[in-house]
Amino acid sequence: MIFEPESRFKKNWDMLVLAVTVYSAITVPLIIVFGIFPDTVDIISIFLVTVVFFLDIVINFNTAIPGRGKLIYDKGKISRVYLKSWFIVDLAAAIPLFTPGTAILRLNRLLKLLRISKSLKRLSGPRMNPAIFRLILLVFWIMIAAHTISCGWIIMSGNPEGLSPLELYIKAFYWTTTTLTTIGYGDITPGNTHQLIYVIFIEIIGAGMYGLIIGNIANLIANIDVAKAQHREKMEKLNTFLRYRNIPLDLSRKINDYFEYLWQTRRGYEESEVLKELPPSLKTWVALYLNKEIIEKVPIFEGASQEFIKETILNLRPVVFTPGDYIVTAGEVGYDMFFISKGTVDVVSADGSTTYATLSDGQFFGEIALLLSMPRTASIIARDYCDLYRLDKETFDRILERYPDFAATIRELAEKRREEINAAKIKREKQESEDEEREYSVPDKITEVKARASGSVIILNWKHVKDFGHYEIVRRKQGSKKWVFLDKNLKVARYTDNNYEKIKKPEYRIRAVNISGPGPWSDIVKVTS
Ligand code: CMP
Repeated sequence: MIFEPESRFKKNWDMLVLAVTVYSAITVPLIIVFGIFPDTVDIISIFLVTVVFFLDIVINFNTAIPGRGKLIYDKGKISRVYLKSWFIVDLAAAIPLFTPGTAILRLNRLLKLLRISKSLKRLSGPRMNPAIFRLILLVFWIMIAAHTISCGWIIMSGNPEGLSPLELYIKAFYWTTTTLTTIGYGDITPGNTHQLIYVIFIEIIGAGMYGLIIGNIANLIANIDVAKAQHREKMEKLNTFLRYRNIPLDLSRKINDYFEYLWQTRRGYEESEVLKELPPSLKTWVALYLNKEIIEKVPIFEGASQEFIKETILNLRPVVFTPGDYIVTAGEVGYDMFFISKGTVDVVSADGSTTYATLSDGQFFGEIALLLSMPRTASIIARDYCDLYRLDKETFDRILERYPDFAATIRELAEKRREEINAAKIKREKQESEDEEREYSVPDKITEVKARASGSVIILNWKHVKDFGHYEIVRRKQGSKKWVFLDKNLKVARYTDNNYEKIKKPEYRIRAVNISGPGPWSDIVKVTS
């Protein structure tokens, strides 16, 4: 029977071997120095360790090994590879050496430590942060080295003061740390040639280890969160540039907000960059996984064939829009359609006077221009941060051709939407022609004004009033007397205030104006978040 290296059994076994190895590394030096165990305990312990280590050799002869991307199950091949690599080390560590006079030879158990990094790495899996893993491993090695060196020092210096084992060990450990860290107080010094040689040896190791540790720790700490460090560096570079080129404060703020949003939602990684490096099969799986949410959210994907989903998903490109952005402008030529993953958009008429609809998570837009080869029928404005997926016309046409069900659904919806727009247009035209024939009175007071903070901008919208020619909007600081005009010729029932940063708690009023004069100001509007 051949074991799988990733099987439950093998993992548990590796864990056991690991524990026994660490146990040996700690106890063997102590037994040599102090003989901490009574004889019977010592013999049982040696027996158990030997059994585990020998069984490990047997299991290693019967565990599949990785080779060129697949596992090798051939017993002959496994044996050859094992005999050439770790067999000697494993065998040397497994042999029990406990006859009197060979005490120091028992250190053979420590050989098993050589394999510890690899099995620890395997057991911790890919989820563990590699920098933290290396840090833990480094500390572990330092502790084992210090422990062994301390025990060595006790052998070299003996116990002339007649201290208890614990006191002796602590003193030796203290000597080891001061020597290894190159502090070297010099309160414990070598007295004879053997000790001198030992100290020289440890000092050289200490100097090397010290350099290694300092270098490693600096590097490890810098690498614990590579993504965060890169993000910070990018932001610093960007902000230096923004300052250098005197980019206005509110615009800088908007740019910063945007990158912060990218960091919050995807850790600064551009999805397509990650996908680019993967082979096609993995790309499909990762893309399907990353876009799971959008597949679940968009009703047209529901119950669609796996093939259709795959083809569409692989061609979707993620894009982000910030609050107030025009994603699609009425009258322009269209080359893409969009699926909303997260966020809300308004569908508004070309002049901005009518909001046809508000779309959010799972809905799509921009299909009419592609289907009917006509200019965009409406403008689409982002209300807040919007995570969208873009599908280009070429792919759209190809998918439409290959999947008639999808084509039918989307045509139906496009037709319905266009009818709605036409109906609204006709109604407006009728209204306008009626308006032309009658006297204008001063417009009414504006009601239902809403002001929402969204990112670093404030978006206001209100209910259209009859007979407006245009709108005027003013703003003041809370409690101040002075109103300042923001816009005197607004044609749409919405306004995006990009520039309120300097003003804490802004308040707004809006009025409609026509040829007969201005209507009354609206009530004061405060921002709701
Ligand atoms: P397109 O004309 O390419 O660009 C504007 C988009 O707004 C349009 O495609 C539709 O996707 C969308 N749209 C137009 N009218 C409506 C409506 N009444 N309801 C929802 N969405 C609409």
